[in-house]
Amino acid sequence: MTRGEAERSRCSTLLAKARKVGGAMLRRLVCIHTIDVVGRSTATAPPTVRCDPQLVLHQVTSLDSVVGAAPGQRDWPIIDLVARIRPLGRRLRARRRERNAERLAKGDLAYVATAGADVAAWIWVSREPSVHCRWSGLHFSLEPDEAYIYDLWSFPAHRATGAGAFVMQGLLEDLRRRGEVSRVYGYILRDNRPNQVLTRVVFGFEQVQRVKDLRVLSRLAWQLPFTEDPRVGPCSRPPLASRRRPRGGAVYSADSARLS
Ligand SMILES: CC(C)(COP(=O)(O)OP(=O)(O)OC[C@H]1O[C@@H](n2cnc3c(N)ncnc32)[C@H](O)[C@@H]1OP(=O)(O)O)[C@@H](O)C(=O)NCCC(=O)NCCS
Repeated sequence: MTRGEAERSRCSTLLAKARKVGGAMLRRLVCIHTIDVVGRSTATAPPTVRCDPQLVLHQVTSLDSVVGAAPGQRDWPIIDLVARIRPLGRRLRARRRERNAERLAKGDLAYVATAGADVAAWIWVSREPSVHCRWSGLHFSLEPDEAYIYDLWSFPAHRATGAGAFVMQGLLEDLRRRGEVSRVYGYILRDNRPNQVLTRVVFGFEQVQRVKDLRVLSRLAWQLPFTEDPRVGPCSRPPLASRRRPRGGAVYSADSARLS
């Protein structure tokens, strides 16, 4: 290889790396996500899952020590770094408490798994007839016997220990026993493989609708109008949302998400 060719190849490698980094940064700034809306009947008992035997399930209805003791929900190393600066860390903790207090005040419930003194995972459930998810921008319209599950979160130190599956199982089993809710809905980002596996493969949720959202700076999001597929489903605006009977299995059957 001549010197000129070597130089050109170095330049094109650098350019390719810069494009990749630039693309990733741009996607953090603004991007469109495909979101799978999934549902499951509560009549079928959830499977028994393998998990860390230390895990204990709590049902949380008020801002008690279990929710209060949880560390920050952070997957970005940069936010972790910022949280180490004391006043900012305090501010983030206070914001999380406010957000959890708001959820509990609306009547939402949390199912929390602890491992010793640690909070390992949680999942939340809402019985409100109309739910707007600030994170994804999605709007759910629910029937009186339906519930919306959200914010399934396994704290990073407890990932892949079965903690996520443990709280999902606890929630589904509790709803089944109480008998007030006959169907639950939630959503999964198309490319969130761990959550796709957990929700669909392990717990048998089925796709009922697909929608797109537009997200800016990973903080502001809007459900894009007319992207609901099919048009009738829990993420459609009324009156389309309430026209979705009869509910058997999945309303949506074609082209389900690839998990590999
Ligand atoms: C999705 C999430 C809750 C999974 O929780 P977890 O505690 O790591 O998962 P579990 O250990 O309970 O694993 C459950 C199943 O998922 C699968 N799984 C877990 N992590 C996986 C990974 N990184 N890749 C592929 N599959 C994975 C496991 O195979 C397991 O199935 P198995 O028991 O048959 O082996 C967790 O990754 C998380 O908190 N992610 C960030 C937040 C998020 O994406 N929440 C959901 C949307 S709001």
